[in-house]
Amino acid sequence: MSALGAELSAIAAAAFAAEGLSQSFGQVTRSDRPDLAQFQCNGALAAAKEAKANPRAVADKIAARLKTNSLFAKVAIAGPGFINLDVTDGALTARGAALAKDARLGAPETGRGKTIVVDFGGPNIAKPMHVGHLRSAILGDCLQRLYRANAWTVVSDIHLGDWGLQMGQLISEIGHRGIAPIYFDANVSGPYPAESPVTMDDLEEIYPAAVAACQADEGRLNEARQATAELQAGRAGYRALWKHFFNVSKFGLDREYGSLGAHFDMWKGEASVDPIVGPMIEDLKARGIATVSEGALVVHVERNTDKKEMPPLILVKQDGAVLYGTTDLATIIDRVREQNPDLILYVVDQRQHLHFEQVFRAAEKAGITGKAVLEHAGFGTMNGTDGKPFKTRAGGVMKLFDLIAMATTEAEKRLAEQGIGADYSADERADIAKKVAIATIKFADLSNYRHTDYVFDLERFSRFEGKTGPYLQYAAVRIQSILRRAAGEGHAIGEPAIRSPEERTLFLQLLSLPDAMAAAEKGRAPNILCDYTFTLAQQYSRFYAEHHILSEPDAAIRASRLGLCRLTLAALVKTLAILGIEVPQRM
Ligand code: ARG
Repeated sequence: MSALGAELSAIAAAAFAAEGLSQSFGQVTRSDRPDLAQFQCNGALAAAKEAKANPRAVADKIAARLKTNSLFAKVAIAGPGFINLDVTDGALTARGAALAKDARLGAPETGRGKTIVVDFGGPNIAKPMHVGHLRSAILGDCLQRLYRANAWTVVSDIHLGDWGLQMGQLISEIGHRGIAPIYFDANVSGPYPAESPVTMDDLEEIYPAAVAACQADEGRLNEARQATAELQAGRAGYRALWKHFFNVSKFGLDREYGSLGAHFDMWKGEASVDPIVGPMIEDLKARGIATVSEGALVVHVERNTDKKEMPPLILVKQDGAVLYGTTDLATIIDRVREQNPDLILYVVDQRQHLHFEQVFRAAEKAGITGKAVLEHAGFGTMNGTDGKPFKTRAGGVMKLFDLIAMATTEAEKRLAEQGIGADYSADERADIAKKVAIATIKFADLSNYRHTDYVFDLERFSRFEGKTGPYLQYAAVRIQSILRRAAGEGHAIGEPAIRSPEERTLFLQLLSLPDAMAAAEKGRAPNILCDYTFTLAQQYSRFYAEHHILSEPDAAIRASRLGLCRLTLAALVKTLAILGIEVPQRM
């Protein structure tokens, strides 16, 4: 089934075409003055400008054509040439019935036959995660869910930072401490112990100590660089140590991301493309794409249209170590070989924009992108109420676990205030609090356009009123409970119908779910879905306030209202699921 907005746009596009104007002017959207009309088409103004005609006259001609279509209850021209449109209740009802029968709720099929690789998460082994990684996890996970819902084949990859200087720093610090001499013994080439000589907690202590040592002492920094280069060159003991770091970290990260509900199809990383890096460099050198500059091997990516300075992408440093951009380039080769994607989306902090621009240009220059479009979906920072990047009270970097724990405590407090779950088991209460906490964090993040920095105000975002995750969960839970009671009282559920303005408004919103999903995909913008869901919940609550549902004496009317409740719930649950928010059974 087609989305209503798309259907109306196609009709308007045909009207423009019939007047010899471009179809692109036929874009129909929900009206921003719902008191005047349901939909609007502003294309006549731009079309008139292009054709050097009078906008009102163009609007008249388009309107005359639209009036012949029985779908419209109203076609009216406003102001200089806006076309306002209403659809008949009959047409809305028929489309509502079709929507209610469609398990996908009319989700667009933009991705049918297409593959996307979503690169998100990107934590670094040993280095603690920061709020940038948190945003990447929330946004990236939401985008992968959205793309799946829109029928794309999605492969997500965490792309671990596991190959840089921090690895050499860890190795040389462990060497200094004499914790595990066997890995440093040049006379030993394995096998090495299966058990890791360090735990996750050890790494968290060793890494900052190593960084401090390198800062204080140039000699230590050189050792760390040397260790990095030897690791990358394949020294067996270092590789074995690295494997332990990887496993220990993966175990910890798996739990952190798991608690957030974020999933990765692949746990690859910078190191995983190591076998590709050597041949890639040889090939780029042979084809003259990579050249030597000041002792380093680089790819020049500047273009004469550049307004800003565009430094070359460095592939190999003077000391032989490969860099972040080198592994990113090799990862493109790997993905094109393995997934042959149509799109690779990098959900990474906006501050890395230059890096991606360099990598994308180098990839295009090298001709390694296959059919893939490469795109950086950047985002701004999550700030504390002080306007600075979000930190713990002690001023440290907030870990994901700590953030979730903090939000859970807040959720417990809120639930108690609302008297929710007082008579539930402690387990169920804890489960609800956890789900509310995750909803608080995710909705706060996703409801802001990704490029804007935002202030994470836990007090505000954990409220059950206002534009928050918990409000939406609660709205869905209340509908669930009505439907449970209806089932308990043996009431039938029928096809939704329009008998009042509130029902009509709700219908229009339900029918525009596919348009919202398409728009969110187009802009890589989960905030569009957040707005959609919030509006839906508000409109439902107006409908609920104005109508009897379970207490409605007329069985047919009651059944159709229950049908509308059920469809609203389905749309709420679906959009929340895309946002990565679970709805508790009851609250
Ligand atoms: N590890 C990187 C960081 O912490 C993020 C990785 C993003 N993905 C990528 N393909 N570069 O900044």
